[in-house]
Amino acid sequence: MSRLLPIALLLGAAALLGACDNMAKQPSDKTWTPAEANPANADPGNRAWPPEPEPNTVAREDRSQPPPPLTPALLARGKERYEIYCTPCHGYLGDGDGMIVRRGFPHPPSFHSEVLRNAPTRHFYDVATNGWGAMYSYADRVAPDDRWAIAAYIRALQTSQNTAAAELPDDVRGKLR
Ligand code: HEC
Repeated sequence: MSRLLPIALLLGAAALLGACDNMAKQPSDKTWTPAEANPANADPGNRAWPPEPEPNTVAREDRSQPPPPLTPALLARGKERYEIYCTPCHGYLGDGDGMIVRRGFPHPPSFHSEVLRNAPTRHFYDVATNGWGAMYSYADRVAPDDRWAIAAYIRALQTSQNTAAAELPDDVRGKLR
């Protein structure tokens, strides 16, 4: 009896392994390729924005949170945070000529392009939250309200570079002369 026990165990284990093997090989109804699962995956250069939410998933950010009200204090905070986190690549003016870009990092697009001037403010918040192409996410370093503050400051930067002198208030225009 005691001699047969190990053999019985071995046989049992072999039977179990055989069963696993059969399960792994059983036919499945359908194998999805990424392109079949979502046609957008077929295009490797796909940069559609915003991405389509998948059913039964929860967005990383709670989009029901309204942005903080636009105040001088928010803009000042945004300027400070922008200069810490974004200038190394996007530069102080937002033209994409930051210090590490001059040393070989991919050149980001200028915030003064037609496309980005027409983008909704939320786009800047979303890019800081989720990253964009070669740019990584800042969600773990910049709190949501600070991302809104930065987005508001980028709007101010855009205005600063794209406003005709005729649109300025008289006292400001006077200082330009
Ligand atoms: C390490 C460099 C780097 C830093 C720091 C950086 N970015 Fe970027 N950013 C990039 C690059 C590179 C791109 C272009 C990426 C691409 O198109 O693949 C980009 C693109 C963008 C875009 C354009 C997206 C579009 O619609 O084309 C926005 C907006 C942006 N960044 C915002 C920010 C903000 C806000 C910060 C600071 C919180 C920041 N970035 C910090 C490198 C950086």
